[in-house]
Amino acid sequence: MKNKFNIKTAFSNAKLNHIMNFKIQALSILTFFVIILNSCTNVDEILTISSPNNKNQLTFSLSASGEPQYELTSSKKSIITTSKMGFEFVENQKMTNGFKIINSEIDSVNTTWEQPWGEFKTIKDQHTKLTVHLQETSGDKRLVDIIFKVFNDGLGFRYYFPEQPNLNEVKISNELTEFTFPEEHSVWWIPVHSDNSYYESLYRKSPISKTETINTPATFETKDGMYLAIHEANLTDFASMTLRYTEKNKFQSELVPWADGVKVYTKTPFETPWRTIIIAENPGELVTSTLMLNLNEPSKIEDLSWIEPSKYIGIWWGMHLEKYTWGSGEKHGATTKNTKEYIDFAAENGFNGVLVEGWNVGWDGDWTADGTSFSFTQPYPDFDIEEISSYAAKKGVRLIGHHETAGAASHYENQLEAAFELYNKMGVNAVKTGYVNKYLDKKEWHDSQFGVRHYRKVIETAAKYHIMIDNHEPVKGTGLQRTYPNLMTQEGARGQEYNAWSNDGGNPPEHTTILPFTRMLSGPMDFTPGNFGFDYKSVQGAKVQTTLAKQLALYAVLFSPLQMASDLPENYVGKPAFKFVKEVPSIWSETKVLDAKIGEYVVIARKDWEAKNWYLGAITNSEKREIKVSFSFLDSTKKYTAEIYTDGKEANYKSNPYPIDISKQNIDSESIITLILAPGGGTAIKVSLVE
Ligand code: NOJ
Repeated sequence: MKNKFNIKTAFSNAKLNHIMNFKIQALSILTFFVIILNSCTNVDEILTISSPNNKNQLTFSLSASGEPQYELTSSKKSIITTSKMGFEFVENQKMTNGFKIINSEIDSVNTTWEQPWGEFKTIKDQHTKLTVHLQETSGDKRLVDIIFKVFNDGLGFRYYFPEQPNLNEVKISNELTEFTFPEEHSVWWIPVHSDNSYYESLYRKSPISKTETINTPATFETKDGMYLAIHEANLTDFASMTLRYTEKNKFQSELVPWADGVKVYTKTPFETPWRTIIIAENPGELVTSTLMLNLNEPSKIEDLSWIEPSKYIGIWWGMHLEKYTWGSGEKHGATTKNTKEYIDFAAENGFNGVLVEGWNVGWDGDWTADGTSFSFTQPYPDFDIEEISSYAAKKGVRLIGHHETAGAASHYENQLEAAFELYNKMGVNAVKTGYVNKYLDKKEWHDSQFGVRHYRKVIETAAKYHIMIDNHEPVKGTGLQRTYPNLMTQEGARGQEYNAWSNDGGNPPEHTTILPFTRMLSGPMDFTPGNFGFDYKSVQGAKVQTTLAKQLALYAVLFSPLQMASDLPENYVGKPAFKFVKEVPSIWSETKVLDAKIGEYVVIARKDWEAKNWYLGAITNSEKREIKVSFSFLDSTKKYTAEIYTDGKEANYKSNPYPIDISKQNIDSESIITLILAPGGGTAIKVSLVE
């Protein structure tokens, strides 16, 4: 039982404010050159723009045969060498060459905007934009624009096909955008669809020539120690982009197809998602890049008062450990009695939500086979939804709803309105969705245009009913939470659940030291940290491969605005370390990566939303290590207390995960603390302002 699919077979009105919008329309801008070269070169026209700090430079040109191509440099070093751009269609002629530039414009943007939640409260959008209007010189004389935005942290570009007489209905058969590197970098990657279809593979690192078709975000390390990440932003009514290794140092965009082989069905006018390249001097700059969010649209939801980032517990881990079942019977987890006990525990310990899986009819038998037995409005008879909802309301706790579809997307869509209406009536304002199946509707990929459309429909319908979404087995994140701030968090990687049943033994210790620089670049992840009990027996012999202190540190390392304390409540009772889980926030006004080596260790400090206290998480792979942390990021005029939760002397993830030392000391911006992390260990620190 190798993968998740098989295992399931076995059993403030925070508005987005544009604070400042400073736009310059400036064709005369210094960084812009139009150079008309003579015909003895192989390039006809070149357009160049630079990032606001002049570091990153984008060059667009047409080859002698009118092929659009781009290049990217950073501090004069080549990042992307000449790479072609274009599209092929099912019925229309391809659009790859024979173009001329009919016009171009440059814009400079310098704006800041506020997030309702996130890893930063305020985000700066500072970039230079180049729009190139292209037209075929003969034949149908079709038009396409290519829009580039160069930021200090990288590049985004997209294609726009205007409405035009000779291009109307379009079936895209291939996107031919290339990403050509000047030399052979290493890359952290997961394969497309071969292990499973929802990104739940372990990341591997290899030279780029040893890859196949890989998912984005794909993170590259250059020989001179730079880091690059290729991904996309604002994936709207289009197929996901994956990367196919084609030839020496070159990837080409490979769009995920529909079952019939077409990649995208569309009609002019249309635009593609942004193709993005983050350029970073160190791993931490990947994490703090805001390029993806800047390339999404502002919120479409005006009243955000109902969106509540928070922490939750759930009737969940018990199912994965086979203590409970999702389906009816003696071990049914989602009973009225059990749920009330979870609600009591949540209320006593300050958790806002209680997730209840297996509350609805449809789980009996092999629920993963087809999903069409699921009702999203009919509870099992031993789950009294009305009584439970009013009990929860009395206790100041909310139920978190659950919609497992087993991939039956259309079946779910047919019930969507009724399902959200019911939850809204019951005071539920967050729903976890799930799509455990190789395909949606038995034939379409999760990350195809079909999937993209489905997931968007769910987010939009949920917003109508004031419901936040936590989406498992999703299409990868592309920053849509800016436009739909009710898209709180997603799975889309191997989470804690693998430690219950994975037949490879669970997530190896390095897994969480890779995620911040790969999967997490696509947005928040519902990893579900917080395991305190390490002695459970799992059918496959899987186990949590961390120490207890590392579980705490994960709350600061892995961002999720809905953050779970995933263990059984009884495993938290009487444990001093639980204090950290209760206190740690789930959203941050500021984030700093203090130190990191991908796959080895990470130290992240985050400031709470009120911009007062800091929380620090340090984690390591299977190696024991000492890390010196300087607190120079603290306000030098203030005093602080640090509550430190660190691995006990004898702790190690393999045989002795429990020992944890909890201590307190006064610190300030001059303090330096040496952390000693056990093999598979970590340290969590709460740094409180002394007032
Ligand atoms: C897979 C999800 O990742 C997991 O959290 C959930 O418990 C099961 N599906 C059942 O819906």
